[in-house]
Amino acid sequence: MSQGPLLVVIDGPAGAGKSTAARRLADRLGAFYLDTGAMYRACTLRALRLGTDLSDGAALAAVVDETKIELLPDGPEGKCRVLLDGHDVSEAIRTREVTNSIHHLANEPRVRERLVARQQALAVARAGTIVAEGRDLGSVVFPHAQVKIYLDASVTERARRRAEDLGGDAPAPEKLQQEITARDRRDTTRLVGPLTRVDDAHYVDSSSMTLEEVVDHMAALAAAAGQAP
Ligand code: DC
Repeated sequence: MSQGPLLVVIDGPAGAGKSTAARRLADRLGAFYLDTGAMYRACTLRALRLGTDLSDGAALAAVVDETKIELLPDGPEGKCRVLLDGHDVSEAIRTREVTNSIHHLANEPRVRERLVARQQALAVARAGTIVAEGRDLGSVVFPHAQVKIYLDASVTERARRRAEDLGGDAPAPEKLQQEITARDRRDTTRLVGPLTRVDDAHYVDSSSMTLEEVVDHMAALAAAAGQAP
């Protein structure tokens, strides 16, 4: 029986290097890159712009229903381009304000239900290989994915990378580590769709690996799955 198109899913905590590695892997495999975090970000941005009450789950679900999101491959380095109702929000969805407000949507079951359904529909609509990244992909969204990867890195290393990204604007290392630990707690203790390392995921600790090494390793896992009978 055919396995259908190859689906590679990458879950892991914020700052483990998922986006850049997933994007590079997708480029290498000629695959569609599905950044599920960008969908949560785009809906959060819309809710903020509309002034929606972030504690009102029904209102947040309505925002999701009314939001058109398009993910295009030609985004800034390591990212996809994101259109919200036809307008480019690739940069706007990555502000601190959006990042700090996402948990209102990510914790709301009605929001997750809708975004999970959209992610699944997107995958069905694609004929070729897909590389998707998020938190609940191997556990909830695509439990039947042929390749599941859990990409991790130490808190110290993730803080170092984040400081490098932020350049001169970076807060002190201890502050960054606290922020990362707090985000991990939120991500793993959510009642719906928490960050989960499923038993059948390949665990990859990128703390002492270069980006190239991470991508090579993931490509080897994808190749092995693609050749499986
Ligand atoms: O991967 P990211 O940092 O762009 O994700 C943004 C937020 O969205 C993150 O705080 C957790 C949430 N998220 C989620 O709840 N489920 C996903 N599948 C992807 C992201």
